[in-house]
Order: sequence, then structure tokens, then C-alpha cells
Amino acid sequence: MDFTGQIAVVTGAARGIGRATAQLFAQRGAKLALIDVDLEKLETVKEELSEYTKDVLIYKCDISDMEAVNSTFSDILENYGKVDILINNAALFRDYMPFMESTPDRWKLYFDVNVMGTLYCTRCVIPSMLENGYGRIVNIGSVAGVYGNRFMTHYSGTKGAVIAMTSSLAKEYAQSGITVNCVSPGSVSPSAHEDMDYVQPTDLAFMSRTGSDRENAELIAFVASKEASYISGQNIQIDGCRKLL
Ligand SMILES: NC(=O)c1ccc[n+]([C@@H]2O[C@H](COP(=O)([O-])OP(=O)(O)OC[C@H]3O[C@@H](n4cnc5c(N)ncnc54)[C@H](O)[C@@H]3O)[C@@H](O)[C@H]2O)c1
Repeated sequence: MDFTGQIAVVTGAARGIGRATAQLFAQRGAKLALIDVDLEKLETVKEELSEYTKDVLIYKCDISDMEAVNSTFSDILENYGKVDILINNAALFRDYMPFMESTPDRWKLYFDVNVMGTLYCTRCVIPSMLENGYGRIVNIGSVAGVYGNRFMTHYSGTKGAVIAMTSSLAKEYAQSGITVNCVSPGSVSPSAHEDMDYVQPTDLAFMSRTGSDRENAELIAFVASKEASYISGQNIQIDGCRKLL
């Protein structure tokens, strides 16, 4: 997989799966624009990536803020002239609570970031992709959006929406050179972990372990590559053969 000459935007790139995905793109020749609310960690990621490329723009941007997203993507397009790849990865999660203990403010926050944020970012790249007749949009969903995780109604609902939005958009742009797919992780190693290959035992998968950030990034990069030209509208689970708990 070679991304030379391609511009890739990754949201939520300061840590976890987003950071690992940014690293793979950098190693394989892409120019990057990385978005996160955590600028300090983004600066560290940029430093890490300098081993592979100097073409890394970083933006502190809350994807639930439409104006901030618009101005971030204007800057990206001004600098790079196009966007080939958008990885809609930033999201809120890891927050378990019984439904009756969660609040409407919390539900709204989750939908604002995970759903509206994905829509805002996507809307910013479609014109450039249409102009070039080429684009790869990879949304990061979750097995929670397929099975519905217990005590995560507020989160599962957002990921179900992302999966449904993926198939709708894929159909709309299928004839324009733009593919839209969703990668849905199962359990991934804790995001605080710096080691991209870190995994832990888990009862949630028949493989009895979590997935690593790098394993997820490898799938995301494939779906975002030219080689994945006949795949669109799919939700691809990466979950070590999930047990439906
Ligand atoms: N880790 C898992 O077990 C798991 C499982 C299923 C799905 N996922 C999905 O994979 C994706 C990445 O997961 P991860 O484990 O790397 O997450 P993570 O929490 O480690 O990283 C998410 C990143 O997004 C950023 N972010 C959060 N809100 C933001 C906002 N409003 N605007 C901009 N940036 C924001 C955070 O600062 C963080 O750097 C998410 O979409 C998540 O829902 C993860």
C-alpha cells in the first residue's frame, strides 16, 4: 500500500487508533492533517512522525463545533489543495452507565461529537473529492453500533448511526470515485497505552485478547487505499471473533 502524493486527514489522531493510523499513512508516503482537541499530544505525534515525513499539519479542533471544523478544513485545503482520505475516528466513549443514570445532556454530547462531528468533517471533504473524482472516507464505528453494548445506550446509538450513514453516503457517491466504509473495532487495548501493539486478555472475543491499535490501523489503511477500489458501503468488524455479550 503506497499513499505517496495523497493527502490524508485523521480526526482523533492524538492517541490510540488515530495515532497508529497516522503513523501508517506517514510510513507509506501520505501527507497528513491531524485533528484533535488535545494539541499537546498532537505535537508529540507530529514529533514521532518526523522520522517518516515533515508534511504533518496539526489542528486543535473540537469536531462537534461546526465553525471550527469548517475553518480547520479550509486551512487544510488551502495548504494541500485537496483531500484524498478522511478517517472519521474521533469519538467519545469508555463511559459505562445504566440508561436511567445517564442524562439528556450526555446523550446530546455523544451525538454532537460522534454523529454531528462525523457529518461536519465529511461535508468539508466531499467537494474536493468530487473535483478529483477520487476519495476514501473511512468512518470508525464499533461493534456497539451493531450489537448494542449494555450500559452504553448513549454510545451504541451514535455508532449505529455512523454505520447507517456510511451505507447511505456510499450509495450516493458510488459513481463519483468516492468510497465510504466503516471499520468497527471490538475491544481495543486501552488508549492511554503508548505501545501500538499492546493487547490484553479479554472474554469478549473468541481469540481471548483485545486488538491492538496497529491491527486496527492496518485495516483502516487498507480500506483507505487505492487497492480497496471495489469496496464501498461496508461495515467491516475487527473484533477477534466477537462473543455477543
Ligand atoms: N478502543 C476501543 O476499544 C474501541 C472499540 C470500538 C470502537 N472504537 C472507536 O475507535 C475510535 C478510536 O478509538 P480509540 O480507542 O483510539 O479512542 P481514544 O479515546 O484513545 O482516542 C480518541 C481521540 O479522539 C479525540 N477526541 C475526542 N473527542 C473529540 C472531539 N470532540 N474533537 C476532536 N477530537 C476528539 C481524543 O482527544 C482522543 O485523542 C473511536 O471512534 C471509538 O469509538 C474504539
